[in-house]
Amino acid sequence: MARTETLDVVAVGNAIVDVVARAEDRLLRRHGLTKGTMRLVDEAAARHLYDAMGPGIEISGGSAANTVAGVASLGGRAAFIGKVRDDQLGQVFRHDIQAAGVAFATAPASDGAATARCLIMVTPDAQRTMSTYLGACVGLGPADIDAQVIGSAQVTYLEGYLWDPPQAKAAFRLAMKVASEKGRQVALTLSDPFCVDRWRDEFRDLVDNHVDILFANETEIIALYRAKDFAEALNAVRGKTAFAALTRSEKGSVVLAGDDTYVIAAEPDVQLVDTTGAGDLYAAGFLHGLTQGRDPATCGRIGSLCAAEAISHFGARPETALAELVRRRNL
Ligand SMILES: Nc1ncnc2c1ncn2[C@@H]1O[C@H](COP(=O)(O)OP(=O)(O)OP(=O)(O)O)[C@@H](O)[C@H]1O
Ligand SMILES: [Mg+2]
Repeated sequence: MARTETLDVVAVGNAIVDVVARAEDRLLRRHGLTKGTMRLVDEAAARHLYDAMGPGIEISGGSAANTVAGVASLGGRAAFIGKVRDDQLGQVFRHDIQAAGVAFATAPASDGAATARCLIMVTPDAQRTMSTYLGACVGLGPADIDAQVIGSAQVTYLEGYLWDPPQAKAAFRLAMKVASEKGRQVALTLSDPFCVDRWRDEFRDLVDNHVDILFANETEIIALYRAKDFAEALNAVRGKTAFAALTRSEKGSVVLAGDDTYVIAAEPDVQLVDTTGAGDLYAAGFLHGLTQGRDPATCGRIGSLCAAEAISHFGARPETALAELVRRRNL
């Protein structure tokens, strides 16, 4: 059969520049932050928190954007749809994602809120805690969904975080509709346990009726089903999607594919510096494997390998050519 795809993965997500800094646990406590999660803040709160943070580094981020940067680093063909403002951070975001080899053609906003920022505190245990000012992301709407781009990609990857800016939900639904009309696959990441709490009923409907490939970490899948533990959540999600890849930090991941279950180990001996991007890069590896026609267990192993790269340095974007890591591992 002739293949009509010209892209492997197109992602729709919040376009964000990260500010990453080391922090002690007491700073999290003082600001009422829950470790390992993401909370939304307004511009004033973001400024206040930034003033309280130690020296930081600015790196382009955005969960789904990190994932497509990973796909491109693996040698896949990738595109991104998301909203920045035409300000300096917006230019940084655009430069970085294009330099990573990802097509990015969404028009920037020429007025309104500034490009989104995420303040990331990395505690001595390498865990990350995020406070996000969504800024220009609230301007993403259905008009930004390029049906031709979505229609030309094997997989449309959507982040749960996109349910927070109100108009983006319509963009999300339109992207899903176009993808399924073209017979493409729809992938979703649940993003964050608090995000799942905010949108539980809608996310369950998406998983039941629209999603082919689901990504979630342990706390997110437990939150989705209000399960008592991981085993109960696993049973609840089994059979709902063609593939589900559930990540469990150092315990690795569990991949469900049809009736089959694969338990995938995390990489041994990883240099744990900053876990930001572990889930994002796991998804990159998994999706790249899948779009190259690899079996589910191999997809999971490529995911683990990419996640290990992400956690070995500050920031979520890959710093090593992931294709080379995969080649060296004979995956
Ligand atoms: N401490 C660790 N040691 C080894 N591998 C890890 C570790 N933490 C994460 N990983 C790898 O990363 C994958 C995804 O991790 P995790 O479940 O923490 O995702 P996540 O919570 O979405 O991460 P984040 O949102 O911080 O990017 C795991 O399946 C595993 O392969
Ligand atoms: Mg995550």
